Amino acid sequence: MWPCLRLGRLPLWPLLSLTFLPLGQGCPAACRCLDYHTIDCRDQGLPRVPSPFPLDVRKLLIADNSIQEIPADFFIFYHDLVYLDFRNNSIAGLEEGTFSSSSHLVYLDLSHNNLTGLATGAFKSAEKLIKLSLGHNRLAQVAEGAFESLEQLQVLELNDNHLQTLSVAALAALPNLRTLRLEGNPWLCDCDFAGLFSWLEENASKLQKGLNEIQCTVPVEDITVFLSDLTEASFRDCKFTLSLTDLIIIIFSGVAVSIAAIVSSFVLALIVNCFQRCAPSKDDDEDDDDED
Ligand SMILES: *[C@@H]1O[C@H](CO)[C@@H](O)[C@H](O)[C@H]1NC(C)=O
Ligand SMILES: *[C@@H]1O[C@H](CO)[C@@H](O)[C@H](O)[C@H]1NC(C)=O
Ligand SMILES: *[C@@H]1O[C@H](CO)[C@@H](O)[C@H](O)[C@H]1NC(C)=O
Repeated sequence: MWPCLRLGRLPLWPLLSLTFLPLGQGCPAACRCLDYHTIDCRDQGLPRVPSPFPLDVRKLLIADNSIQEIPADFFIFYHDLVYLDFRNNSIAGLEEGTFSSSSHLVYLDLSHNNLTGLATGAFKSAEKLIKLSLGHNRLAQVAEGAFESLEQLQVLELNDNHLQTLSVAALAALPNLRTLRLEGNPWLCDCDFAGLFSWLEENASKLQKGLNEIQCTVPVEDITVFLSDLTEASFRDCKFTLSLTDLIIIIFSGVAVSIAAIVSSFVLALIVNCFQRCAPSKDDDEDDDDED
């Protein structure tokens, strides 16, 4: 008899289905397996990623569902994935390490989801990624190291989010970036924005319509302007605001100068005193005479 009779009571089906399914078979019920490596599960009202999938899936279309998370071990099973379309779902966050086995992923669409922030290394190990779409989320915070290890990335879409600020370092980590979308965010052009502004000014060719597709709000005046209406001179006043380091240097040099002043006046006083005591003067003689 087959050993599975003896194993019958153990919950081995998920494991068996993953391990022994012939490659390219086992199409999930809600999905259509178009060819050997392409699975289409779009617009099926799915609340989560159906499982199991053929392990050798390379292109997964799962847009227009209401999936709330990408399972943290997703790429451990489906590490051959090259193309992942997760557009228009309800993903609110990315588990740390989700992309740690995504070394073949070239195209990732997470637009029209519910993401609010990107942590450092959010896409770590997705070293082959060329296009990353994050438009139409609710992103308000993008860590400086959010895009680290995306050395091949050419297209980054962060349009239509809730970003007021973005670290230049996050963008500078992308040596092959060609197309950047930042429009549709409530950018705040305060002094923190000065660095991003000069980066964008020098790299305006990466924006589809240049600086006049991005708007920002000037804090004090509370007016909204196009970046193309601003110049370096608009941030001129920022040069005079002091950073913490500046303050420390100023305080430190102030203290140093004071100490030097005290020490030198002390030395001066000693010298004067010494001169008065050591040099025999006529006055002393006269005084002595008087006393006698
Ligand atoms: C998102 O998907 C739903 C179906 O789940 C669809 O009705 C809606 O039009 C889609 N929205 C966008 C922006 O594609
Ligand atoms: C996104 O999150 C907000 C707040 O948590 C929630 O009200 C909304 O329904 C979510 N939208 C989607 C499409 O999941
Ligand atoms: C413009 O982009 C290039 C390449 O990404 C980068 O080396 C350069 O520093 C950027 N310009 C500024 C002002 O940062």
